[in-house]
Amino acid sequence: MSVSDIKVGHIDDVQELGKAKISHIPERFIRDLTERPNSDNVITSTNNNIPVVDFSKLCKGNIDEICSEILKIKISCEEWGFFQVINHEINLDLLEKIEKVATEFFLMPLEEKQKYPMIPGTVQGYGQAFVFSENQKLDWCNMFALGLEPHYVRNPKLWPAKPSNFSETVEIYSREIRKLCKNLLKYIAISLGCKDDVFEEMFGAAVQAIRMNYYPACPRPDLVLGLSPHSDGSALTVLQQGKGNSVGLQILRNNAWIPVQPIPNALVINIGDTIEVLTNGRYKSVEHRAVTHKEKDRLSIVTFYAPSYELEVGPLRELVDDKNPCKYRRYNHGDYSKHYVTNKLQGKKTLEFSKINYV
Ligand code: OGA
Ligand code: NI
Repeated sequence: MSVSDIKVGHIDDVQELGKAKISHIPERFIRDLTERPNSDNVITSTNNNIPVVDFSKLCKGNIDEICSEILKIKISCEEWGFFQVINHEINLDLLEKIEKVATEFFLMPLEEKQKYPMIPGTVQGYGQAFVFSENQKLDWCNMFALGLEPHYVRNPKLWPAKPSNFSETVEIYSREIRKLCKNLLKYIAISLGCKDDVFEEMFGAAVQAIRMNYYPACPRPDLVLGLSPHSDGSALTVLQQGKGNSVGLQILRNNAWIPVQPIPNALVINIGDTIEVLTNGRYKSVEHRAVTHKEKDRLSIVTFYAPSYELEVGPLRELVDDKNPCKYRRYNHGDYSKHYVTNKLQGKKTLEFSKINYV
């Protein structure tokens, strides 16, 4: 079978391409040489890993344990922008259940998934987000995303009827992840030397969304990217990788891509652009991307947690002084979100919106 045999409309759907057993990768997925994932700036040694924070020690440990975990959070956020959380107290059955319904969703026939289409220029529903032009390269990924909180961001027409327990599982999962985000923001505030409720108080009716990313196996992982390099527009992002997943997520550190080694049952946390701005750049929103695997599909379930769209975001006053001059202008978070979702993913470019000299 060749690409031209695939029905129009299926052509950019990577799962359909996979089923069609194509012999070569369509041009739109083939990256320019400099963007390809096999470049020489990928770290292959596995002992260069993002820090691991033990959540149960943070909540229930003795004073030394608490201090040591908070210090780990501080170092992770300053130097990596990423950490993994173990013993996060979210029921492991629930993690398994969300993975199961997400996988079942992606494995449904295309026609079923297309009942919930992602309208170009929006980020909810099934499809490929952040695509704005015909000559833009496409990611080797299918996405399904839903706005969750506050309720007015929901689009009930996009909540799938199948699998039957999909919506219920998303609701329960999202409540648990929300609790985790609130707790982590509290510890992040403490690690900055701020009042523990500084973010909670400021965020108001926090915005939460979920995105499931499905990366089918790709016959030429060296030519494509699963997800283009980007930083997240959120305050915090929580990423769950499917059990038994191969390594796929990579983060950019000192100009080299470092693969994030999955730890069973851990959650990957990263700082989004909003926390970078609020902390005047002290905590970093780090660029990351996903790569594909030759034989294995990969699933990730990603939660974005952000302040109310009404919030005026700008560096916290206590983090600006003579030694740390203000690096970002104040802006409305709703405007930032709009700017984020209406531009293609391009490293940390979106954050230029908030640079003090941005016009
Ligand atoms: C994202 C993201 C990485 C992954 O969805 O923003 O960075 O491994 N995903 O799926
Ligand atoms: Ni991301």
